[in-house]
Amino acid sequence: MTSLTLEGQVALVTGATRGLGLGIARRLAAEGAAVSVVGRDAGRAASVAAELGVAGGRAIGLSADVGVWEMAAEAVEQTEAALGPIDIVVAAAGVGAIGTVVEADPSDWRRMIDANYLGTAHIVKAALPGMLGRGRGDIVAIASAGGTKGYPEWSGYCASKWAVVGFMECLAQEVTTQGVRVCTLCPGGVDTPFWDDLNKDIHRAGTATRAGLMRPDDVAETVMLQLRLPRSVLIKRTVFFPTSEWH
Ligand SMILES: NC(=O)c1ccc[n+]([C@@H]2O[C@H](COP(=O)([O-])OP(=O)(O)OC[C@H]3O[C@@H](n4cnc5c(N)ncnc54)[C@H](OP(=O)(O)O)[C@@H]3O)[C@@H](O)[C@H]2O)c1
Repeated sequence: MTSLTLEGQVALVTGATRGLGLGIARRLAAEGAAVSVVGRDAGRAASVAAELGVAGGRAIGLSADVGVWEMAAEAVEQTEAALGPIDIVVAAAGVGAIGTVVEADPSDWRRMIDANYLGTAHIVKAALPGMLGRGRGDIVAIASAGGTKGYPEWSGYCASKWAVVGFMECLAQEVTTQGVRVCTLCPGGVDTPFWDDLNKDIHRAGTATRAGLMRPDDVAETVMLQLRLPRSVLIKRTVFFPTSEWH
């Protein structure tokens, strides 16, 4: 009998109420992990957790705005109380808004820093002491290809993702020798509702460019690439694209 890769492990996934975080949560559950589904929308968090439960997994849904430290810390506490110590954190919560620097709304810059950068930093900080205490853990942050270079009109978004990359780079040097692996994924375009909510028409649903994007499952597969590796091996950062685009 083959055992599931993540049997007995507990994973907390932010941004798991939809999009690529949802794809990652489904995959981690399918690999045997108990999953804490975190997002602001309590109804969607609960329904995703119920779906994972029906499929045979253990899951809870939690409503939290991870841009707020206290809510991120509480999500970690509630997860550990319900499912046990957290082995895996995937920080996938994020928002996007674009426009030239001249036309950008500064409140969008703040929103992206709060959700994308601080949302990652908060959930990591809250889960880290437990991982360090046990000498074992995996932290995967979903940054973006926009965290590795700049694009016109994406200044606020890229800045928030460069912040994630910088944070993870420093964190890794603090903790990898203590058993906590730190991996930053920088995907290009993925087919998610992100593009429906974006304030400009790029990759709209039903277009050929949208069809050419990666799927949430593809990102989940790259998360699994890290999690399947021997504990002594770390993918520090990976930049990957759909074959329909090259940056
Ligand atoms: N789609 C792409 O092409 C692409 C490419 C590279 C990187 N990314 C990054 O991947 C991540 C996920 O993107 P996606 O495409 O899956 O977007 P999405 O479909 O819009 O999903 C975003 C997720 O983040 C959650 N979220 C947003 N702000 C939050 C907050 N403050 N606190 C808690 N949860 C929050 C949302 O849930 P609630 O609404 O329930 O809060 C939702 O589950 C983002 O960081 C994005 O920047 C996306």
